[in-house]
Amino acid sequence: MGVDRVRWGIVATGNISTSFTRDLKLLDDAVATAVASRSQDSADRFAAEHGIEHAYDDYRRLIESGTVDVIYIGTPHPQHYAIARTALQAGVAVLCEKPVTLTAPQARDLIAVAAEHKTLFAEAMWMRTNPVIQALFADLATGVIGEPQQVVADFAFYKPSLPARLLDPALGGGSLMDGGIYPMTFAYMALGRPAELKAVASLNEDNIDLNVAMAWRYDSGAVAALTCGLRSQNPWVASVSGPEGSLQLPNRFHHPEYYVRHTATGAERIDVPAHGLGYHYEAAAVMHALREGQIEVPSLPHTGTLEILELLDETRSQIGVRYPGDDDDLTG
Ligand SMILES: NC(=O)c1ccc[n+]([C@@H]2O[C@H](COP(=O)([O-])OP(=O)(O)OC[C@H]3O[C@@H](n4cnc5c(N)ncnc54)[C@H](OP(=O)(O)O)[C@@H]3O)[C@@H](O)[C@H]2O)c1
Repeated sequence: MGVDRVRWGIVATGNISTSFTRDLKLLDDAVATAVASRSQDSADRFAAEHGIEHAYDDYRRLIESGTVDVIYIGTPHPQHYAIARTALQAGVAVLCEKPVTLTAPQARDLIAVAAEHKTLFAEAMWMRTNPVIQALFADLATGVIGEPQQVVADFAFYKPSLPARLLDPALGGGSLMDGGIYPMTFAYMALGRPAELKAVASLNEDNIDLNVAMAWRYDSGAVAALTCGLRSQNPWVASVSGPEGSLQLPNRFHHPEYYVRHTATGAERIDVPAHGLGYHYEAAAVMHALREGQIEVPSLPHTGTLEILELLDETRSQIGVRYPGDDDDLTG
């Protein structure tokens, strides 16, 4: 058929890189041509498992290899910024895992570098490109529940042994950056940026947030109640409600299979056809934007990325969680 395939480079060989690379195979017009790891063994193993031609033992070598059009960054959050910046400066497009950086100034800087080098940059906030989520927000925009007044969302889970990075301050650990970003993004998509936010948290001895509760207030009168944590098996659901009803997302609301519309006529389950793990939707959106010559993916907007980082900065400041880079001056 002669479809020009977009060449992807996979940066890091951990959990999410594996899921993303699996889903990439669902797209006829995508091919993973290179992978990079901190170790050649891991890169070779990953390349063999996924049928990838080039394997590098250094992220920068992949970026400079000329074998890829776009990289996907699946390292822990603290490493995102430097890798993304290097790629954008080299004119290689970037899809970077969430949170795209540790701080808002870092995200602002990457957006500026992308503009300067006319290179696509997007945060892999896959929830935004999920077909069920998109259908829910299209429904909301019709006014089916009236003017939204409340958002409630939670993202908390418990496992006897958590992945080490979640409890390691040097790896950007804590529930807020890993999970809290999802309820925050859901509320932001439903209501926009709040006029005021308040947050409380329980931290462990390493200053890692284990339980966080957030309250957002809007000048319209709307509010949002959001939680995240690493110590409880939560319902893991989300809803947006107005005077005429509500739209509700079930367990694991960030990649749902359906939503429920409650109105005066009753409850209706809305199923939306979906397949794969759900990561190919963001990849497809990136490739579409690349082909259009865009540096921003419409469904993964820079403003949304930046404003969520600003809200994360404010939340961390209120609960007393600090990361390396909080004091960096990137204005110069
Ligand atoms: N969208 C989603 O659904 C989703 C789900 C989970 C996580 N995430 C995000 O994806 C990122 C990675 O999460 P993950 O669960 O995939 O983590 P992970 O399994 O620990 O993998 C991270 C990989 O990053 C590389 N790395 C580079 N520097 C590292 C360091 N100092 N310590 C440890 N690993 C390092 C390693 O690959 P090499 O050894 O090959 O270099 C490692 O395998 C996080 O930002 C997280 O928020 C997103």
